[in-house]
Amino acid sequence: MPTVLILGASRGIGHEMVRQYRLEGWRVIATARKQEDCDELTQMGATAHQLDVTSADSIAALGWRLDDEKIDVAWLVAGVYGPSGSGFPTGPEFDAVMHTNVLGAMRLIPIVGPLLADTRGKLAVLSSKMGSIGARSGTEGTLYRASKAALNSVLADAAITYGAQGVTCVSFHPGWVQTDMGGSGATLTPEQSVRDLRATLAKVDKSGNGAFLDHDGTPIPW
Ligand SMILES: NC(=O)c1ccc[n+]([C@@H]2O[C@H](COP(=O)([O-])OP(=O)(O)OC[C@H]3O[C@@H](n4cnc5c(N)ncnc54)[C@H](OP(=O)(O)O)[C@@H]3O)[C@@H](O)[C@H]2O)c1
Repeated sequence: MPTVLILGASRGIGHEMVRQYRLEGWRVIATARKQEDCDELTQMGATAHQLDVTSADSIAALGWRLDDEKIDVAWLVAGVYGPSGSGFPTGPEFDAVMHTNVLGAMRLIPIVGPLLADTRGKLAVLSSKMGSIGARSGTEGTLYRASKAALNSVLADAAITYGAQGVTCVSFHPGWVQTDMGGSGATLTPEQSVRDLRATLAKVDKSGNGAFLDHDGTPIPW
């Protein structure tokens, strides 16, 4: 039975990932910030751990808990949008978005990467098309865009470091998804997005290491 690690599974896309992987019989390790969300993940059949991606202590504690694990697939899902405008963010807004979306990944990937090397597994981060510089056509959510561009840089580094150890590292746009972040007017349900994301990652082979893909597998310019 393969093992998937889902980082940020209390709601939205991460929560739906837990549901679908369990349905397919995978062993699921999932994280959430709050104990009550961990309890719900346990009821869904996952092994749940508390994790706040902005806390170095919390990340270190997760590292200890995962120490002996061998993981086939890891999804880094946790993220925040921050201010929706294109003006100056405040310092606290900048810190909140960058610490969650970028620093969290920079601290988690060195813990998760080695656990994937044994299985020659796959690491996927949920970035966004809004982080693409090559496909940029608007400026709203400028802080979020900058954070996802930076996350893509972190993924590109992971592809070099862990790609050499047999891990396939991919950055994904999940589509515009009906979650708290995406809103009810979004074009995809979480069920559709996650079905596509899982199928696309399953098809990606070693040659896809370091790719930036839409949920359906279409390449996105960096
Ligand atoms: N929805 C879209 O249309 C869309 C489009 C492009 C990219 N994405 C990306 O896809 C990912 C998931 O988005 P979503 O739509 O599912 O968002 P969501 O419904 O707003 O859920 C966000 C998730 O991130 C978690 N999270 C936030 N800050 C955290 C922290 N400090 N520590 C641990 N977990 C934290 C939340 O946990 P809590 O419940 O504890 O807050 C929640 O599980 C994000 O990275 C997002 O940027 C989404």
